Amino acid sequence: MRFVEMRGTFRPEGDIATPELSPGEAHVWIVRLDALHGHAEAAADILDEAERARARNFRFDRDRLLYRLGRATLRRLLSAYLGIEPADVPLRTGLHGKPELGAPFDTPPLHFNVSHSGDLALYAVTRDGPVGIDVEQMRPIPDLQGVAELVLSPLERTTFSSLDTGRRQAFFHEAWARKEAYLKALGDGLMRPPTSIEFGALLGEPGEAIRDREDEAASRRWRVTAWQPEPGYWAALAAPAFTESIALFESVE
Ligand SMILES: CC(C)(COP(=O)(O)OP(=O)(O)OC[C@H]1O[C@@H](n2cnc3c(N)ncnc32)[C@H](O)[C@@H]1OP(=O)(O)O)[C@@H](O)C(=O)NCCC(=O)NCCS
Repeated sequence: MRFVEMRGTFRPEGDIATPELSPGEAHVWIVRLDALHGHAEAAADILDEAERARARNFRFDRDRLLYRLGRATLRRLLSAYLGIEPADVPLRTGLHGKPELGAPFDTPPLHFNVSHSGDLALYAVTRDGPVGIDVEQMRPIPDLQGVAELVLSPLERTTFSSLDTGRRQAFFHEAWARKEAYLKALGDGLMRPPTSIEFGALLGEPGEAIRDREDEAASRRWRVTAWQPEPGYWAALAAPAFTESIALFESVE
């Protein structure tokens, strides 16, 4: 997938211009949730009863705030695509916990997925088919070697071990983001061991090979692209193989 120039911005309040979303295209909105802290009340107003109940269950105020802001942002973004009010976006939870749109927007569906880490939230939207997105803030991991063994495939581990210590962090976070995005696109695959999925791009191979022990056709079905949306973060988008381009949209303060 190639990136196309940024074509829009998300503002904390006010209408979002209806984005034109063509077949073969995925939109990724990059939103800084810390810039939205002053807009928490407006955010709480557009959540539905299930979201409010979930928000109340968070133990820490910061988690509750980020959840409210993240969900309200999702509603505002989807409302721009659907041409309805944010509070009216019929969000429901799919069989394995993946949020999706309910009737009448489920045929043909607008597909989306969400990820947050640190102060960043990323939202992917496409009409092409299921998508998965992941963002990871790079943080020091105390037992990186041990965690790498739980996440990386044997070949990825060999490459990881050949790197100097400084580069291992970035390699690991990119791998994690790719795997999580891919598993989130599958939706029902979150319980699978990430070691059973391997990306040629991480091994220095040309092209976008995906080796999935449970799907020999993974490279024909899916594309997974990774990039750094900001220094200190890795992100990845998994989309159907015929999705050709990713348009990035950024938030402004
Ligand atoms: C549920 C899970 C996807 C959440 O991921 P996370 O990294 O903690 O959080 P993210 O911010 O990236 O994603 C959370 C969002 O994913 C979405 N989500 C939830 N269940 C999902 C599913 N089954 N499929 C796709 N997306 C899902 C939701 O929108 C959620 O946001 P919300 O809680 O605000 O509604 C994840 O914890 C999980 O189960 N992963 C297992 C896969 C694995 O083993 N990964 C290891 C690294 S490769």
